[in-house]
Amino acid sequence: MTVAARAPRRKKATPDAADLLAWYDRHARVLPWRARKGRQEPYRVWLSEIMLQQTTVKTVGPYYAKFLNLWPTVDALAEAALDDVLRAWAGLGYYARARNLHACAQAVVERHGGVFPETLDGLRSLPGIGDYTASAVAAIAFDADAVPVDGNVERVVTRLFAIEEELPAAKPVIKQLALSLLPAKRSGDFAQALMDLGATICTPKKPACALCPWNESCQALVRGDQETFPRKPAKREGKLRRGAAFVVLRADGMVLLRTRPDKGLLAKMTEVPGSAWTHDFDVGDALAHTPLEANWKRLPGVVNHVFTHFPLELTVFMAKVSRTAKAPKGARWVPLAEAGGEALPTVMRKVLAHALE
Ligand code: ADE
Repeated sequence: MTVAARAPRRKKATPDAADLLAWYDRHARVLPWRARKGRQEPYRVWLSEIMLQQTTVKTVGPYYAKFLNLWPTVDALAEAALDDVLRAWAGLGYYARARNLHACAQAVVERHGGVFPETLDGLRSLPGIGDYTASAVAAIAFDADAVPVDGNVERVVTRLFAIEEELPAAKPVIKQLALSLLPAKRSGDFAQALMDLGATICTPKKPACALCPWNESCQALVRGDQETFPRKPAKREGKLRRGAAFVVLRADGMVLLRTRPDKGLLAKMTEVPGSAWTHDFDVGDALAHTPLEANWKRLPGVVNHVFTHFPLELTVFMAKVSRTAKAPKGARWVPLAEAGGEALPTVMRKVLAHALE
């Protein structure tokens, strides 16, 4: 008896959205901003997409819940005080997002009667909504023909088509190819499926190609160099800046804080007093910048933080003062137990943790 040879599995020439959607139906991540059934409210989609810019799914979860609890609708958020929004945002980073979030809620209420526009152009004309967020909201909230292309989706598409062009020059061709994959229906699910594929299967290192619904049409996989995509120019990091931070504790449990200027990096956020952050900062001169006279102690180690354009290294000094000590001009005493409720950016949370641990 002869055994019929099994026909080799046919390679698919082009990725089929139906394969990705079938995979998504079985493996979609359960995420707080995702509707279990049907479409999610535009306000919730928009809020989550703003938070998810530059921030991980895990970090966003509790902030998303907190914002919905404080401001369940776009009207409620529009009526909130900006300071309250910044305070609730503290720790998420990239604070321009929080200012734009508030401005966008006000624009939706004032210009659109509290109803999010459904078109890409309408969405893009709102504060803080760029091409990515407009595409994500249009697709997920309205099933519009749009594909949000972020770093994850760039990775998936450059691998699928083995795109040799480097980022960012390759962006238009990536966008065009991503749109060419769009199914006739379910563009919201398609967008979220692409996000999930990028986050769980088509990962930067060691992608799980054996489990990928598109592995029969991935050009990089055929070549075996999938990890090398997307092509990127060599990284140029900003130059290191250094500075000093001064943690003053008053005997009655107060800490000295101040508000940063209205403009520039971390505008209007709360900080402990400190020196300017410069390339040529000399820690030997740090005590020239103290906010008040005291017995200053330099703490061992440093606090490191990376901003978009530069890494920062802060040396922390600490002093304990009596309960009668006055706050210098521009600073204020805040009960230490309430400091967590201030609009403290992550770098300042790190400074306080370093001083108090
Ligand atoms: N990253 C950006 N938007 C996202 C979303 N809606 N779900 C999961 N990850 C995301």
